Amino acid sequence: MYTCYVEEISSNQILHLLCLISDVCLSDLCTLWTGLTRIKPTMSFYPSYLMCLCLGILCVVFVSYWNAEWRGGFAWDGSSKQFNWHPVLMVAGLVVMYGNAAVVYRVPLTWGHSKTPWKLMHAGMLLLALILSVLGLCAVFDFHNAKTIPNLYSLHSWIGICTVALFASQWVVGFVAFLLPCCALEIRKLIKPLHVWMGAIILVLSIVSCISGINEKLFFSLKGNDNMTQPYAKLPSEALFANSLGVLIVLFGLVVLYILHNQSWRRPELGHDGEGYRPLSHEES
Ligand code: HEM
Repeated sequence: MYTCYVEEISSNQILHLLCLISDVCLSDLCTLWTGLTRIKPTMSFYPSYLMCLCLGILCVVFVSYWNAEWRGGFAWDGSSKQFNWHPVLMVAGLVVMYGNAAVVYRVPLTWGHSKTPWKLMHAGMLLLALILSVLGLCAVFDFHNAKTIPNLYSLHSWIGICTVALFASQWVVGFVAFLLPCCALEIRKLIKPLHVWMGAIILVLSIVSCISGINEKLFFSLKGNDNMTQPYAKLPSEALFANSLGVLIVLFGLVVLYILHNQSWRRPELGHDGEGYRPLSHEES
Protein backbone atom coordinates (compact mmCIF):
# COMPACT_ATOMS: atom_id res chain seq x y z
CA MET A 1 0.00 0.00 0.00
CA TYR A 2 2.74 2.39 1.05
CA THR A 3 4.86 1.39 -1.98
CA CYS A 4 1.97 2.25 -4.30
CA TYR A 5 1.70 5.71 -2.81
CA VAL A 6 5.44 6.33 -3.26
CA GLU A 7 5.28 5.27 -6.92
CA GLU A 8 2.46 7.67 -7.64
CA ILE A 9 4.01 10.84 -6.26
CA SER A 10 5.25 13.23 -8.90
CA SER A 11 8.70 14.68 -9.33
CA ASN A 12 7.43 18.04 -8.01
CA GLN A 13 6.30 16.38 -4.80
CA ILE A 14 9.73 14.79 -4.45
CA LEU A 15 11.26 18.24 -4.79
CA HIS A 16 8.96 19.66 -2.12
CA LEU A 17 9.86 16.80 0.22
CA LEU A 18 13.56 17.35 -0.39
CA CYS A 19 13.13 21.05 0.36
CA LEU A 20 11.40 20.31 3.61
CA ILE A 21 14.14 17.89 4.62
CA SER A 22 17.20 19.87 3.63
CA ASP A 23 15.79 23.37 3.99
CA VAL A 24 17.10 24.27 0.53
CA CYS A 25 15.33 26.96 -1.44
CA LEU A 26 12.78 25.37 -3.83
CA SER A 27 13.76 27.55 -6.80
CA ASP A 28 17.41 26.42 -6.54
CA LEU A 29 16.34 22.79 -6.63
CA CYS A 30 14.00 23.45 -9.54
CA THR A 31 16.87 25.03 -11.45
CA LEU A 32 19.02 21.96 -10.80
CA TRP A 33 16.17 19.62 -11.81
CA THR A 34 15.46 21.51 -15.07
CA GLY A 35 19.16 21.51 -15.88
CA LEU A 36 19.45 17.77 -15.27
CA THR A 37 16.44 16.95 -17.42
CA ARG A 38 17.89 19.08 -20.26
CA ILE A 39 21.28 17.35 -20.21
CA LYS A 40 19.94 14.06 -21.62
CA PRO A 41 18.31 15.39 -24.80
CA THR A 42 21.22 17.75 -25.36
CA MET A 43 23.85 15.03 -25.04
CA SER A 44 21.87 12.61 -27.22
CA PHE A 45 21.77 15.23 -30.01
CA TYR A 46 25.46 15.03 -30.78
CA PRO A 47 25.72 11.40 -32.04
CA SER A 48 22.94 12.17 -34.55
CA TYR A 49 24.59 15.44 -35.53
CA LEU A 50 27.96 13.70 -35.97
CA MET A 51 26.27 11.12 -38.18
CA CYS A 52 24.70 13.96 -40.21
CA LEU A 53 28.12 15.62 -40.70
CA CYS A 54 29.90 12.36 -41.62
CA LEU A 55 27.17 11.24 -44.04
CA GLY A 56 27.18 14.70 -45.67
CA ILE A 57 30.95 14.57 -46.23
CA LEU A 58 30.68 11.00 -47.56
CA CYS A 59 27.96 12.04 -50.06
CA VAL A 60 30.15 14.82 -51.49
CA VAL A 61 33.22 12.54 -51.61
CA PHE A 62 31.26 9.73 -53.30
CA VAL A 63 29.60 11.92 -55.96
CA SER A 64 32.92 13.66 -56.78
CA TYR A 65 34.84 10.38 -56.95
CA TRP A 66 32.17 8.74 -59.16
CA ASN A 67 32.40 11.54 -61.72
CA ALA A 68 36.19 11.85 -61.54
CA GLU A 69 36.95 8.12 -61.71
CA TRP A 70 34.28 6.72 -64.07
CA ARG A 71 32.83 9.74 -65.95
CA GLY A 72 36.03 11.44 -67.11
CA GLY A 73 36.35 14.31 -64.63
CA PHE A 74 35.31 17.96 -64.87
CA ALA A 75 35.42 20.87 -67.34
CA TRP A 76 33.15 23.82 -68.29
CA ASP A 77 33.18 23.48 -72.09
CA GLY A 78 29.78 22.08 -73.08
CA SER A 79 31.12 18.51 -73.07
CA SER A 80 30.01 15.60 -70.90
CA LYS A 81 32.70 16.74 -68.48
CA GLN A 82 30.60 19.85 -67.92
CA PHE A 83 27.57 17.66 -67.23
CA ASN A 84 29.61 16.02 -64.43
CA TRP A 85 29.40 19.21 -62.41
CA HIS A 86 25.61 18.76 -62.31
CA PRO A 87 25.41 15.82 -59.86
CA VAL A 88 28.29 17.16 -57.74
CA LEU A 89 26.81 20.65 -57.35
CA MET A 90 23.26 19.37 -56.79
CA VAL A 91 24.32 16.89 -54.08
CA ALA A 92 26.66 19.40 -52.41
CA GLY A 93 24.12 22.25 -52.59
CA LEU A 94 20.58 20.98 -52.48
CA VAL A 95 21.26 18.00 -50.22
CA VAL A 96 24.33 18.43 -48.01
CA MET A 97 24.52 22.22 -47.57
CA TYR A 98 20.72 22.46 -47.43
CA GLY A 99 20.43 19.66 -44.83
CA ASN A 100 23.11 21.20 -42.62
CA ALA A 101 21.49 24.63 -42.86
CA ALA A 102 18.17 23.10 -41.80
CA VAL A 103 19.58 21.73 -38.52
CA VAL A 104 21.59 24.82 -37.48
CA TYR A 105 19.01 25.90 -34.85
CA ARG A 106 19.01 22.41 -33.32
CA VAL A 107 22.68 22.61 -32.22
CA PRO A 108 22.44 23.19 -28.44
CA LEU A 109 25.68 25.22 -28.46
CA THR A 110 23.80 27.96 -30.33
CA TRP A 111 21.00 28.19 -27.76
CA GLY A 112 22.91 30.35 -25.30
CA HIS A 113 23.19 33.21 -27.79
CA SER A 114 20.92 35.67 -29.51
CA LYS A 115 19.10 34.08 -32.44
CA THR A 116 20.04 36.76 -34.98
CA PRO A 117 23.55 35.51 -35.92
CA TRP A 118 22.17 31.97 -36.31
CA LYS A 119 19.37 33.29 -38.50
CA LEU A 120 22.02 34.94 -40.69
CA MET A 121 24.03 31.71 -40.70
CA HIS A 122 20.90 29.70 -41.67
CA ALA A 123 20.01 32.15 -44.47
CA GLY A 124 23.65 32.37 -45.64
CA MET A 125 24.11 28.60 -45.84
CA LEU A 126 20.81 28.31 -47.71
CA LEU A 127 21.85 31.05 -50.12
CA LEU A 128 25.09 29.15 -50.78
CA ALA A 129 23.02 25.98 -51.33
CA LEU A 130 20.82 27.90 -53.80
CA ILE A 131 23.84 29.29 -55.69
CA LEU A 132 25.40 25.81 -55.94
CA SER A 133 22.12 24.34 -57.23
CA VAL A 134 21.66 27.10 -59.83
CA LEU A 135 25.25 26.49 -61.02
CA GLY A 136 24.43 22.76 -61.14
CA LEU A 137 21.42 23.51 -63.33
CA CYS A 138 23.50 25.80 -65.58
CA ALA A 139 25.95 22.91 -66.08
CA VAL A 140 23.26 20.54 -67.35
CA PHE A 141 21.31 23.13 -69.41
CA ASP A 142 24.55 24.32 -71.11
CA PHE A 143 25.52 20.73 -71.83
CA HIS A 144 22.07 19.94 -73.31
CA ASN A 145 22.10 23.09 -75.44
CA ALA A 146 25.65 22.44 -76.70
CA LYS A 147 24.67 18.88 -77.71
CA THR A 148 21.16 19.91 -78.93
CA ILE A 149 19.55 17.56 -76.42
CA PRO A 150 15.98 18.66 -75.55
CA ASN A 151 15.49 20.32 -72.16
CA LEU A 152 13.10 19.27 -69.41
CA TYR A 153 11.70 16.11 -70.99
CA SER A 154 12.32 13.59 -68.18
CA LEU A 155 10.46 12.96 -64.92
CA HIS A 156 13.76 13.64 -63.12
CA SER A 157 14.04 17.07 -64.72
CA TRP A 158 10.41 17.95 -63.89
CA ILE A 159 10.77 17.03 -60.23
CA GLY A 160 14.21 18.65 -60.12
CA ILE A 161 13.16 21.99 -61.59
CA CYS A 162 10.09 22.17 -59.29
CA THR A 163 12.33 21.44 -56.28
CA VAL A 164 14.72 24.27 -57.14
CA ALA A 165 11.80 26.65 -57.83
CA LEU A 166 10.19 25.77 -54.46
CA PHE A 167 13.54 26.21 -52.72
CA ALA A 168 14.10 29.63 -54.30
CA SER A 169 10.58 30.77 -53.29
CA GLN A 170 11.06 29.40 -49.78
CA TRP A 171 14.31 31.34 -49.45
CA VAL A 172 12.75 34.62 -50.58
CA VAL A 173 9.69 34.22 -48.31
CA GLY A 174 11.96 33.22 -45.38
CA PHE A 175 14.23 36.21 -45.98
CA VAL A 176 11.35 38.70 -46.09
CA ALA A 177 9.44 37.17 -43.18
CA PHE A 178 12.24 36.36 -40.74
CA LEU A 179 15.14 38.67 -41.59
CA LEU A 180 13.57 41.94 -42.66
CA PRO A 181 12.40 43.95 -39.65
CA CYS A 182 9.30 45.17 -41.50
CA CYS A 183 7.43 41.87 -41.12
CA ALA A 184 4.90 41.83 -38.26
CA LEU A 185 5.36 39.25 -35.49
CA GLU A 186 1.86 37.84 -36.15
CA ILE A 187 2.77 37.15 -39.78
CA ARG A 188 6.04 35.48 -38.71
CA LYS A 189 4.13 33.26 -36.32
CA LEU A 190 1.68 32.37 -39.07
CA ILE A 191 4.39 31.57 -41.61
CA LYS A 192 6.75 29.65 -39.33
CA PRO A 193 4.97 26.24 -39.27
CA LEU A 194 4.56 26.36 -43.06
CA HIS A 195 8.24 27.35 -43.44
CA VAL A 196 9.35 24.39 -41.29
CA TRP A 197 7.05 21.96 -43.15
CA MET A 198 8.09 23.24 -46.58
CA GLY A 199 11.74 22.98 -45.55
CA ALA A 200 11.35 19.26 -44.86
CA ILE A 201 9.34 18.70 -48.06
CA ILE A 202 12.04 20.40 -50.17
CA LEU A 203 14.68 18.11 -48.65
CA VAL A 204 12.56 15.05 -49.49
CA LEU A 205 12.09 16.32 -53.07
CA SER A 206 15.85 16.96 -53.41
CA ILE A 207 16.54 13.39 -52.37
CA VAL A 208 13.94 12.09 -54.83
CA SER A 209 15.59 14.21 -57.57
CA CYS A 210 19.03 12.82 -56.73
CA ILE A 211 17.90 9.20 -56.66
CA SER A 212 16.08 9.53 -59.97
CA GLY A 213 19.05 11.41 -61.48
CA ILE A 214 21.57 8.77 -60.40
CA ASN A 215 19.33 6.01 -61.74
CA GLU A 216 18.80 7.83 -65.04
CA LYS A 217 22.52 8.51 -65.48
CA LEU A 218 23.40 4.86 -64.85
CA PHE A 219 20.80 3.70 -67.41
CA PHE A 220 22.13 6.23 -69.96
CA SER A 221 25.81 5.40 -69.39
CA LEU A 222 25.91 1.69 -68.66
CA LYS A 223 24.32 0.32 -71.82
CA GLY A 224 26.97 -2.33 -72.36
CA ASN A 225 26.73 -2.08 -76.13
CA ASP A 226 30.15 -0.52 -76.61
CA ASN A 227 33.01 -2.54 -75.17
CA MET A 228 33.80 0.26 -72.75
CA THR A 229 31.17 -0.51 -70.13
CA GLN A 230 29.28 -3.47 -68.76
CA PRO A 231 25.47 -3.17 -68.69
CA TYR A 232 23.83 -1.82 -65.50
CA ALA A 233 22.13 -5.20 -64.96
CA LYS A 234 25.54 -6.84 -64.46
CA LEU A 235 26.17 -4.40 -61.58
CA PRO A 236 29.67 -3.24 -62.60
CA SER A 237 31.77 -1.44 -59.99
CA GLU A 238 30.53 1.99 -61.17
CA ALA A 239 26.90 0.96 -60.67
CA LEU A 240 27.66 -0.49 -57.25
CA PHE A 241 29.42 2.72 -56.25
CA ALA A 242 26.71 5.06 -57.60
CA ASN A 243 23.94 2.96 -56.00
CA SER A 244 25.84 3.26 -52.70
CA LEU A 245 25.91 7.04 -53.21
CA GLY A 246 22.10 6.91 -53.51
CA VAL A 247 21.86 4.94 -50.26
CA LEU A 248 24.13 7.46 -48.50
CA ILE A 249 21.96 10.35 -49.73
CA VAL A 250 18.82 8.63 -48.39
CA LEU A 251 20.52 7.96 -45.02
CA PHE A 252 21.66 11.58 -44.81
CA GLY A 253 18.09 12.75 -45.48
CA LEU A 254 16.67 10.41 -42.85
CA VAL A 255 19.13 11.64 -40.20
CA VAL A 256 18.32 15.30 -40.98
CA LEU A 257 14.56 14.61 -40.83
CA TYR A 258 15.03 12.71 -37.55
CA ILE A 259 16.90 15.68 -36.04
CA LEU A 260 14.23 18.13 -37.27
CA HIS A 261 11.42 15.93 -35.96
CA ASN A 262 12.80 15.48 -32.41
CA GLN A 263 10.89 17.98 -30.23
CA SER A 264 13.40 17.92 -27.36
CA TRP A 265 16.12 19.24 -29.70
CA ARG A 266 14.19 22.36 -30.67
CA ARG A 267 15.74 25.68 -29.70
CA PRO A 268 13.91 27.08 -26.65
CA GLU A 269 11.83 30.05 -27.89
CA LEU A 270 11.03 31.83 -24.66
CA GLY A 271 11.62 35.49 -25.45
CA HIS A 272 8.37 37.37 -26.02
CA ASP A 273 9.55 38.36 -29.49
CA GLY A 274 10.90 34.92 -30.29
CA GLU A 275 14.38 36.47 -30.44
CA GLY A 276 15.64 36.31 -26.94
CA TYR A 277 17.13 33.54 -24.92
CA ARG A 278 16.50 33.01 -21.28
CA PRO A 279 18.91 31.10 -19.12
CA LEU A 280 17.79 27.68 -17.92
CA SER A 281 16.67 28.97 -14.55
CA HIS A 282 13.99 31.05 -16.27
CA GLU A 283 12.79 28.40 -18.69
CA GLU A 284 9.69 26.35 -18.31
CA SER A 285 10.34 22.63 -18.51
C1 HEM B 1 18.54 17.96 -56.15
C2 HEM B 1 19.17 17.38 -57.10
C3 HEM B 1 18.90 17.54 -58.58
C4 HEM B 1 18.08 18.39 -59.25
C5 HEM B 1 17.20 19.45 -58.66
C6 HEM B 1 18.23 18.12 -60.66
C7 HEM B 1 17.59 18.80 -61.68
C8 HEM B 1 17.73 18.54 -63.04
C9 HEM B 1 17.09 19.25 -64.10
C10 HEM B 1 16.15 20.42 -63.92
C11 HEM B 1 17.48 18.70 -65.26
C12 HEM B 1 17.02 19.11 -66.66
C13 HEM B 1 18.07 19.87 -67.41
C14 HEM B 1 17.64 20.08 -68.84
O1 HEM B 1 16.56 19.69 -69.21
O2 HEM B 1 18.44 20.65 -69.60
C15 HEM B 1 18.37 17.62 -64.95
C16 HEM B 1 18.96 16.80 -65.86
C17 HEM B 1 19.67 15.69 -65.55
N1 HEM B 1 20.09 15.31 -64.29
FE1 HEM B 1 19.62 16.19 -62.58
N2 HEM B 1 19.13 17.09 -60.81
C18 HEM B 1 19.55 16.72 -59.56
C19 HEM B 1 20.48 15.77 -59.25
C20 HEM B 1 20.99 14.90 -60.16
C21 HEM B 1 21.91 13.85 -59.83
C22 HEM B 1 22.48 13.54 -58.45
C23 HEM B 1 22.17 13.20 -60.98
C24 HEM B 1 23.10 12.05 -61.09
C25 HEM B 1 23.92 11.88 -62.05
C26 HEM B 1 21.42 13.84 -62.04
C27 HEM B 1 21.38 13.44 -63.37
C28 HEM B 1 20.77 14.13 -64.39
C29 HEM B 1 20.78 13.71 -65.78
C30 HEM B 1 21.39 12.43 -66.32
C31 HEM B 1 20.13 14.71 -66.52
C32 HEM B 1 19.94 14.78 -68.04
C33 HEM B 1 18.73 14.08 -68.49
C34 HEM B 1 17.47 14.76 -68.06
O3 HEM B 1 17.21 15.90 -68.46
O4 HEM B 1 16.76 14.15 -67.28
N3 HEM B 1 20.72 14.88 -61.50
N4 HEM B 1 18.50 17.55 -63.58
